[in-house]
Amino acid sequence: MQNAGINELGLEWRYLAFDVHPLHLREAILGAKVMKFIGLNLTVPHKLLAVDMVDALDESALTFGAVNTVRFEAKDENGEWQPLRHFEGDVPEVVRSHGFNTDADALGRALREGLKLDLPRSRVLLLGAGGAGRAAALKLASERVHELYLVNRTAQKAEGVAKEIRERFPQVNVVLGYPKETVDLVLNATSLGLKPEDELPFDAKQFALDRTKSVYDMIYRPAETRLLMAAKEAGCAVANGLGMLLYQGAAALELWTGQQAPLAVMKQALEQEVYGGGSKVAATFGR
Ligand code: ATR
Repeated sequence: MQNAGINELGLEWRYLAFDVHPLHLREAILGAKVMKFIGLNLTVPHKLLAVDMVDALDESALTFGAVNTVRFEAKDENGEWQPLRHFEGDVPEVVRSHGFNTDADALGRALREGLKLDLPRSRVLLLGAGGAGRAAALKLASERVHELYLVNRTAQKAEGVAKEIRERFPQVNVVLGYPKETVDLVLNATSLGLKPEDELPFDAKQFALDRTKSVYDMIYRPAETRLLMAAKEAGCAVANGLGMLLYQGAAALELWTGQQAPLAVMKQALEQEVYGGGSKVAATFGR
């Protein structure tokens, strides 16, 4: 996805994957900085660790307590920090790492564009309160959803997330447990659905899919989880996590380049990479 985007923009850059042990993350970020990399993406568990390892944090990383994108920057002739691209090969020696979070906005965009949701007015049942669940809850709260229901296998973790939202977003009505009435969205942020034998991520005795208008599954492989299949059958609008993956990547590329990301090209490359261009892409980005 990133190399397709980079290529489309005519840049002589390469996006490469490095397997870094969490114990070496600080050195890896420092190494990329002194080698004047343009930027980095980080995945689990590095997103949380990197918050204490970069030189500056964007508001997005502060709000969600996680860094998935690093941009390396140096000072221009006016003393302003600029992305390294600005310097065209003649990069000053003093470089800083600047941490951003593009995941949270990507989720918002995927819900708005894939499911046509009007978040500030919606009622949402969020399944899962792990790393992804907490981040989704904070994003939904920051978008001022009308009502947020939290369910997690380990109730204590859902309570922790509810407490954090009540402190940071007191306007949002957070409820622990299943809604009694209909909701606009069920959002799966658990890992249930990754394996074919996995059960549905909610308790069918307490909730049924005909009580929601739409379902978003943060899982994108398989393209259609049991949850999304059941939701389609119940007549819900559905989308999987590929939209979120695409939009977080597009936002990262925009941070590095200062240019608009070529979304269609990146989307096509992503689908090809993840699904091999097979027929399983129907539910991907929503209706
Ligand atoms: P991630 O960073 O992907 O969110 P995580 O923090 O390990 O990963 O969270 C996994 C989520 O899936 C949690 O909400 C977890 O529930 P617990 O908090 O009770 O562990 C949920 N999950 C994983 N396996 C599950 C299962 N078999 N049944 C129900 N929920 C499950």
